[in-house]
Amino acid sequence: MHTPDISTDARNILGLQLPTDPRWVNLAEKSLDDILTDHAYCEQKAALSCISLIQRYSDKEKLVIELSPVVTEEWGHFRLVLAELHNRKLKLGKQRKDEYVNKLLEFQKKGGSTEDRLLDQLLTMALIEARSCERFKRLSEGLDDEYLRNFYRRFMESEAGHYTLFIELAETYTSKEKLRLRWKEWLDYESSIIRNLEIRGDRIH
Ligand SMILES: [Fe+2]
Ligand SMILES: [Fe+2]
Repeated sequence: MHTPDISTDARNILGLQLPTDPRWVNLAEKSLDDILTDHAYCEQKAALSCISLIQRYSDKEKLVIELSPVVTEEWGHFRLVLAELHNRKLKLGKQRKDEYVNKLLEFQKKGGSTEDRLLDQLLTMALIEARSCERFKRLSEGLDDEYLRNFYRRFMESEAGHYTLFIELAETYTSKEKLRLRWKEWLDYESSIIRNLEIRGDRIH
């Protein structure tokens, strides 16, 4: 077991308030087939969410232009994970209920202006990217297998880029002050989800 340097970056990964429990990597290591399946679906859902944002906000030119290549990238991630399953003679399992994402969706404003709804949808995406990035970082530092550590490092870097893009898009379509206040609320809410979610080695979040 590699000892991850949790203390120095725990509170700093992309603003997340609560670091992942260090035991999670050990659990994940023991159920790699489940983790790969869950990860594959996360990538698929990321691609789908970007397509849905493009459909919903087709009048927002920057969003359409910037998110189109992300769809391709996320689908590419899905294929990478699928290939990894095949290399290991494993099959893509069933999709699980995504408690983490469902809890995030509950926090989204349902009514209000289009601007407010778009902001919440972009911040939801930013948070999922940030937490995924943090989890991939844990795997890239904590797994015993060097090949897998490098495998997850690539995802970590890519999801960090997506996180930045979603924040940039939020800055484009809302005022700085509104974004700052709402982002703070989202970060607090996300940490409460993580605090209350059971630590399981068979899923990314
Ligand atoms: Fe991805
Ligand atoms: Fe992503």
